[in-house]
Amino acid sequence: MFKNSKVAICGVGNVGATTAYTIVNQGLCEQLVLIDINKDKAYAEALDMSHAIHFMSRNMTVWAGDYKDCKDADVVIITASAPMPKDSHDRLEMLKPSLHIIESIVRSVMASGFDGIFVVISNPVDIMTYYTWKVSGLPKNQVIGSGTNLDSARLCYELGSMYSLDSKSVQAYVMGEHGDSEVISWGTATIGGKKVDNVLADNASRTRDMTKESLRKETVEAGWDIFNRKGNTSYGIAASVTAIVKSILFNENAIYPVTVCLNGQYGLSDVFISVPTIIDHSGAREIVEINLQEDELEALKRSAALMQEFYPKLG
Ligand code: LAC
Repeated sequence: MFKNSKVAICGVGNVGATTAYTIVNQGLCEQLVLIDINKDKAYAEALDMSHAIHFMSRNMTVWAGDYKDCKDADVVIITASAPMPKDSHDRLEMLKPSLHIIESIVRSVMASGFDGIFVVISNPVDIMTYYTWKVSGLPKNQVIGSGTNLDSARLCYELGSMYSLDSKSVQAYVMGEHGDSEVISWGTATIGGKKVDNVLADNASRTRDMTKESLRKETVEAGWDIFNRKGNTSYGIAASVTAIVKSILFNENAIYPVTVCLNGQYGLSDVFISVPTIIDHSGAREIVEINLQEDELEALKRSAALMQEFYPKLG
């Protein structure tokens, strides 16, 4: 673990505060800085969490800070965005209103002298991760987006609950855009080491009407099922990001599907989308190239092309 490890969170709304609390709950670092334009909100969240630490397994310091506090941070998490329109059903709608917010945050963080790892959550996350890399000028391995790590958990949950299993016994990757064009790697998906294709075929009575297509739909729609009822999603994304941050801080070398810049893998280059990636203290250590089926690889390429279409418009 990094000595005197420090994490900063830019944007302390629902996602930022829940991520902060998940980090506190898991005692991941010595110092946690909360940064928000609403200084009272950041102050109140930090104070509330500081009291909670009395009952946690490890002491740590949480305070409301400023961008200059990012100077020696190991990880800076960006959650800030413009408010999501109430009737929204596409994360890409967030792009335009959030762009200048992300730019100003990244510039302020970089002005502090920051040279750690950015973990981007703000939607549309794949484009915002690219944009963060571009504005920051940091090496590509130091900029990671939360991507489809959460979508993968959602798919594992769907499959697990169908058979009354712990979702952790399911291994399945969702890749590409965190959004409508995302791709499930069915060929590599397993439950307890057994291919999902075989599990579905051998358990027709328990699988009932579920098909790979309906499982995909549930996975893609899950975020909206939550958002349309409570106005945001928070626990899932916070837990998924905390796992990514833990792998960075503890140098775990865990593999998660996260938004990273591809460099020839899957026949793609200079595009930020989610693919399974080994994450260590240096950030995105290495991209893992899993064996996608032909149609899945084509779908991944379409998803990447969709993201790239936005790049020239970002200025
Ligand atoms: C979700 C948000 C993080 O899918 O996009 O929950």
